[in-house]
Parts: sequence; C-alpha cells; structure tokens
Amino acid sequence: MSVAPMSVATLAAMKSRGERIVSLTCYDASFARLLDSAGVDLMLVGDSLGMVLQGHATTVPVTVAQMVYHTAAVARGRERALLVADLPFLACATPERALENAARLMQEGGAQVVKLEGGAPMLETVRRLSEQGVPVCAHLGLLPQSVNRIGGYRFQGRDHASAEAIRHDALAMQDAGASLLVLECVPAALATEIGRTLSIPVIGIGAGAGCDGQVLVLYDMLGLNPGRPPSFSRDFLRGRGSIAEAVSAYVEAVRAGTFPAADETPH
Ligand code: KIV
Repeated sequence: MSVAPMSVATLAAMKSRGERIVSLTCYDASFARLLDSAGVDLMLVGDSLGMVLQGHATTVPVTVAQMVYHTAAVARGRERALLVADLPFLACATPERALENAARLMQEGGAQVVKLEGGAPMLETVRRLSEQGVPVCAHLGLLPQSVNRIGGYRFQGRDHASAEAIRHDALAMQDAGASLLVLECVPAALATEIGRTLSIPVIGIGAGAGCDGQVLVLYDMLGLNPGRPPSFSRDFLRGRGSIAEAVSAYVEAVRAGTFPAADETPH
C-alpha cells in the first residue's frame, strides 16, 4: 500500500487501473488514525453523524458548525486517506451559501473534498464550486437529507423513470465538474452501468459490487447499529477480536470484490 496522501487524481488513477476504492465514514481523530493504518483510501465525515453519534432519527438536524468540528478532528488523525466532508441539510440552498459553507469545511475543518446531495437542482452549485477550485463529490440515489419529502429510506432507481433520472443526473454532475460520485441504494445493474459510463470514480453504498469503490457507515460495519442493520451492510466485527481486524477485513473484502456479496446486493 502506498503511503503517499490520496487525492482526487489518485482515486481517478485507481479507477483507470481497475483498483477498487475503499471508503468508510469517520467522525473523530482516533478512528481516523485506525482507518488510515488499515489502508482506507477515503474517509467521509458524513452527516450520518447526526444519527450514529448524536442519536437523531435523521441527518436533518446536523449543522455546518458540527460538520466543521468533526472534520477538523478527523483531519488531525488522518495522514493518507482523502478527507471528504458532507455539506449538511440546506447548507447548499443557494450556490452562494454552498461556497461559504464549503470554505468553512475546507479552511476550518481541513476537508479536501465536499459532498452534496441532490441531482438537477444542484448542478449550478457544483459548477460554481468546481470553478472556484473546490473538489465536489456528488451524491445521487437515496438522499437521506430529503427523508421528510420522500417519506422514508427507500431504494431508488427501481422504475424506468427514476433510473433514467439518476443516469442523466450522474452524467450532468460529471459535466458540471464533480470529481467523485456516491450512489446510495440503487440497483446494482444501474450502478455498474453508471460506473462504466462515467470517467470519475463512482463509490457505492447499497449499490452492488460493480462500482469503482464502496463506502459504509463505520458504525454499521462494526455492528453498532441499535436497530435492524441495513440489508446491504455487513458486521465485520462479528467473529473478529478487534476493531482494527474488522476494518482490515473490510479493506481486504472491498479490494477483492467480495463485499458486497450477492445477498448484500440490491436488484
Ligand atoms: O452521511 C453519510 O454517512 C453518507 C454515506 C451514507 C454515503 O452520506
């Protein structure tokens, strides 16, 4: 494993070599050190911290200040992995607001890439951020920040119209300047097709093994989910003696393409 720090360019090079990208969410310095030692390529300070750290039912209550706080903590522990931070609920309600909040995540938090949820309505924002030198990770498929509008956490892209919209938005995001794309809870065949069409890396969660990389919520893959775990996740701590072993097993399984397995793959 190379110890050179990761960048959007090195992730793109991994995609072109057919090497799978390993990603996990991370919210503090201690886990950042552990994930880095295990060879995780990308750490996402996800607004999922509102659910797994703060105990909220959704990610909606998470603020920019909280994201900055956790991003800065991860930045202090990380050496190699690329540090991506979420723009939380309504933090990109306008392109101007997105620019201000991206500046906070990068300048105060130390993020190297910002992630934002949404398709067509976010294109202008992605364009503006990219033009200003902000690397953007787009997020399509299930959009947890829109849970109150969609009415639950449901798989997306299962009917023709919604699959077509995701396909179209994915290409539009790349054209607008996005450097990475997260696809959440979409059929494996759709995610694989999008990954093959786009030149930017596509990281899947609940999107099958055909993506260029995988991401999971750290607490889900450590079996710390208090409710029913997501059907596409796996408890990597079960049967292993330490968190470090669990994370290493996840890294190996993603690199080898054995995670997600068929029964962890949505159709
Ligand atoms: O907030 C988060 O953890 C995320 C992942 C689920 C991709 O956006």
